[in-house]
Amino acid sequence: MIIAVDGPAASGKGTIARALARHYGLPHLDTGLLYRAVAATVLRAQLDPAVEADAVLSCGFEDSLLADPWLRTDDVGKVASVVSANPLVRAALLQRQKAFAQQPGGAVLDGRDIGTVIAPDADAKLFVKATPTIRAQRRHLELRRAGQDPSLDKVLADIRARDERDSRRSDAPMVAAADAALLDTSFLSIDAAVQKAIELVESRRSAST
Ligand code: CDP
Repeated sequence: MIIAVDGPAASGKGTIARALARHYGLPHLDTGLLYRAVAATVLRAQLDPAVEADAVLSCGFEDSLLADPWLRTDDVGKVASVVSANPLVRAALLQRQKAFAQQPGGAVLDGRDIGTVIAPDADAKLFVKATPTIRAQRRHLELRRAGQDPSLDKVLADIRARDERDSRRSDAPMVAAADAALLDTSFLSIDAAVQKAIELVESRRSAST
C-alpha cells in the first residue's frame, strides 16, 4: 500500500506520516529532507540558491547528510523552499522518490507533491492542513524548545512566505490532489490527528476493495 501525505509547513504531516508508517509497518520517506539536503549543500559551498546551475550541482549530496540535524533548522528550510522551485532540482530528485514509493510492499511518503506527482496512483492520499496562525504557534514552540527565540510574528511571516512560494511555483506546486482526503489538524491533538488519519486511510482502502 502506498500512502501519500502532503501539506504545508508545521501542518503535522511529518508526525502523521511517521505514525502511519509505524501503524502499517511501512517504510517512510520525508521528501522535504531531500530538498533540505540540496539547500544545505548550497549553503555549505556558499553557492546561490536562486542560480539554477548552483542548485542543480548540489543535488549530488551524500546520503549521510540526511541525518545531519542542521537540515531541520529554519534557515535550511527557507533555502529548501527556494531550491525546490527549480524544475531541474525537482527532476533530479524525482526518480529516487518514485522508486521509494514503488518498492515492494509499499511505503508512506510525505511532502508537497506526493499525491500529485510522485505517487499519483497512491492507495490513500491525505492533505494535512491547519491555519497559518496555529502552524506558526507550533513552529514557534519547536524553535523555542531548540533554544532559538524568534518572535511569533516573524515565524508567522516566514510560514506565509513559504506557503506562497510553495503554492505559486509552476512546477509541482503544493496543492491537494483531487482525490486526497483533507485533514485539518488545527484543533486536534497529535493522537486525535493520527487516529483520524488512520480512519481516513481505512475508508480509502475499503472503498477501493
Ligand atoms: O515541514 P516543513 O515545511 O518545515 O519542511 P519540509 O517538509 O522539510 O520541506 C522543506 C521545503 O522543501 C518546502 O518548503 C518545499 O518548498 C520543499 N518540498 C517540496 O517542494 N516538495 C516536497 N515533496 C517536499 C518539500
